[in-house]
Amino acid sequence: MELFDAIAARHSCRAYADKPATREQLEKIVAAGRLAPTALNVQPWEMVVVTDAERRRALVDLVPNGKFIASPGVACIALFSKDTKYYLEDCCGAVTTMLLAATGLGLDTCWVAGDKKVYVDAVGALLGAPTGMKLVALIAVGHADGKVDIAPKRALEEVIHWERF
Ligand SMILES: Cc1cc2nc3c(=O)[nH]c(=O)nc-3n(C[C@H](O)[C@H](O)[C@H](O)COP(=O)(O)O)c2cc1C
Repeated sequence: MELFDAIAARHSCRAYADKPATREQLEKIVAAGRLAPTALNVQPWEMVVVTDAERRRALVDLVPNGKFIASPGVACIALFSKDTKYYLEDCCGAVTTMLLAATGLGLDTCWVAGDKKVYVDAVGALLGAPTGMKLVALIAVGHADGKVDIAPKRALEEVIHWERF
């Protein structure tokens, strides 16, 4: 898929079909994420790919805002980071890159919050995160079950400012 088409085609999906992404697709998504830019090229992240149904169920017991992660056919990529100065900016770049890579592969996704959530430590413990690694985001990956809702976006004319506000 052409890059600009993928950017336009990505929408948060919260209902998935029982048709999992392949291991190769999941690997490609993580491979893309690791190419994102980072301040001083520190690449502070680790990505944990969770496909096991029981582990995903345990995850959603902790993450009420990502219940669909437990659905059949869903994989979850948990992005952890070292606590570096720019970890949030760095990791958000990696998440966005992975969302677009998944769209390019014909998959659907949803970014589920990690950073600042009360379950950061509990998810880290569940997934065996080493000391000092913190959860930044969870990404649900799979195939949409039907049409995905399209969130309204602000118009270009409203957000673009040439030279100054
Ligand atoms: C930092 C961040 C955290 C998010 N957390 C959640 C979440 O916990 N659960 C969820 O269903 N969607 C979550 N989303 C998805 C947003 O709700 C979604 O991106 C927004 O409504 C716009 O829709 P779109 O992704 O289809 O453009 C999150 C998105 C971001 C960027």
